[in-house]
Amino acid sequence: MPSTAPTVQLKVLYTREQIARRVAELGAEISRDFAGQSVVLVGVLKGASIFLGDLARQISLDATFDFISVSSYGTEKQSSGEVRLVKDVDQSIQDRNIILVEDILDTGLTISFLRKKFLAHQPRTLKIAALLDKVSRRIAPVTADYVGFVIPDEFVVGYGLDYAERYRNLPDVCVLPPEMQ
Ligand code: IMP
Repeated sequence: MPSTAPTVQLKVLYTREQIARRVAELGAEISRDFAGQSVVLVGVLKGASIFLGDLARQISLDATFDFISVSSYGTEKQSSGEVRLVKDVDQSIQDRNIILVEDILDTGLTISFLRKKFLAHQPRTLKIAALLDKVSRRIAPVTADYVGFVIPDEFVVGYGLDYAERYRNLPDVCVLPPEMQ
């Protein structure tokens, strides 16, 4: 099997096998919760793209995809809470079951902004799925309905998550040590 060089230097927090098992559980939960209905999975680019792709294949419902993109003024490691929509959804969300798919909830400011924006368009239901949740960092009072793993306050990369656009393609979720940030 080809090796992915950066993984060697980084501490693995969740292996690809652990992630796959948890994503399958989340997919089964969503399938049960929305049995007999259709859902729209809305991924927040770019970090949620890999999670959305895997999660979607574990959902046994009529499902469509959409993507949004936001930019927040802040550092590479943290959003400032001043969120701007760069790309909106392509389809109407009114009266649809929307599941916002995020890679990680940190301060919660991004998802809180998106939640308000989506609710204004009157979806039938609005749920939030996040692979990772740094609960201890929360500023905005927002919780996810489907959470993969609650993690400590460490900067993580891989499985879609980046640092300065790098590491998204690592198959495992890894901790980026401070000296590499
Ligand atoms: P929030 O608005 O503070 O919840 O920030 C959410 C966004 O910050 C995520 O979608 C990520 O883009 C980024 N982020 C927060 N923590 C991490 C991390 O540990 N690694 C990579 N990106 C992160």
